[in-house]
Amino acid sequence: MRKYFIQTFGCQMNEHDSEIIAGMLCEKGMEEAASPDEAQVIIFNTCSVRENADKRFFGTLGQVKKKKKTEPETIVCVCGCMMQQQHIIDTVKEKYPWVDIIFGTHNIHEFPKLLDSVISVRERQIDVWPEGREIVEGLPSRRLFSCKALVNIMYGCNNFCTYCIVPYTRGRERSRKPENVIGEVKDLVADGVREVMLLGQNVNSYRGDGDTDFAELIYRLDEIEGLDRIRFMTSHPKDLSDRLIKAFGECSSLCKNIHLPVQSGSSRVLEMMNRRYDRDRYMELVDKIRETVPQITISSDIMVGFPGETEEDFLDTLDLIERVRYDSAFTFLYSPRKGTPAAEAEDQIPEEIKHDRFNRMVDLINTISAEKNAAMEGKTEDVLVEGISKQKPDNLAGRTDGFKLVNFRGDASLIGKIVPVRITKGKTFSLEGEII
Ligand code: 5AD
Ligand code: SF4
Repeated sequence: MRKYFIQTFGCQMNEHDSEIIAGMLCEKGMEEAASPDEAQVIIFNTCSVRENADKRFFGTLGQVKKKKKTEPETIVCVCGCMMQQQHIIDTVKEKYPWVDIIFGTHNIHEFPKLLDSVISVRERQIDVWPEGREIVEGLPSRRLFSCKALVNIMYGCNNFCTYCIVPYTRGRERSRKPENVIGEVKDLVADGVREVMLLGQNVNSYRGDGDTDFAELIYRLDEIEGLDRIRFMTSHPKDLSDRLIKAFGECSSLCKNIHLPVQSGSSRVLEMMNRRYDRDRYMELVDKIRETVPQITISSDIMVGFPGETEEDFLDTLDLIERVRYDSAFTFLYSPRKGTPAAEAEDQIPEEIKHDRFNRMVDLINTISAEKNAAMEGKTEDVLVEGISKQKPDNLAGRTDGFKLVNFRGDASLIGKIVPVRITKGKTFSLEGEII
């Protein structure tokens, strides 16, 4: 077993779990394969937020069958959020007999043990924990980027938004101890990391210990010498504290960017979603944040087609988008998830209406993004150089403090450095620039 290949679906949490899985395999002396064809161990880390991801996963799993026929020694592993649902485990067991290992979101640290068992006894291993137990610290990680790192500060979610499967697949909220988070970040900085992205389904409800809430954690991390940038994801608007808003003004390494998912601009829909804020409260928050940090960039997750959403509700969403003027937004078509309350609702929205609303929403968001990016032309931004550009291989790519992607010419020796870049062109999804 020399090489592994991991395919990750879904959010940053899953990305980071995959980094940990890769870290554990590297500790076993394995290396990453460039493609599944070259790998002896293939891992699919799945997402269950939307039905599309389910379908894509089963499609990909079907393709592995061929490899398993010609190379029966290949070990196929599936993990992630989908595996926390019994009906999915049952489907994999029944219809995909070539899968060797199934594990869940709560026991990724057990993966090396499961792998050893499959190798020694050649028998399928299934181990999924229904709930999270004590947080396991000190797992290795093989980072996707050398200069920036994902750091979990908490796991799970207690919010039970009525459309969302996450509370069922990731369990209840559990926070890491601040010493463990701070210790990990210090180690990362010593390893060359300049930016950390703190991860949690709802970082605002972080409770490290009696004194350390999320804002306090930021203040403590801000003191770490050599750490240039702190980001976090995701904030639930209902829990965003004044102290955190203040931290944007006071903590120099806290990036001036916030991802603040609104989901809908209609108070009626927000209530049906169990979001526990309304449209006015959300707008007040945005105003307060912008008063403290005028240059802040704001992004969102926004959904159309929630059961019972009327044209009027949808127009409220468009109106909110126009008022907030997001820098960018992830857009979603509501997708019923088995086991969630909204999936049981009778007034599901027909597909063509959902798609029509989706297209209108995306057009508006893109127009605003393009306008905001165009307004940056001529300005100079500090850019953390992350690597070679995916779009243009002779360019470098990096991010501004506000999380905007910038492509520009430069030498690969700049990767990992923060450089001043003058923005020459603002496009819908990225910026072009030149190093000063
Ligand atoms: N259908 C569509 N989008 C969803 N999201 C979560 N659950 C669903 C669903 N059932 C979106 C929300 C969330 C983001 C991560 O995924 O907008 O913020
Ligand atoms: Fe899902 Fe809501 Fe929790 Fe986010 S806050 S993970 S949308 S239940």
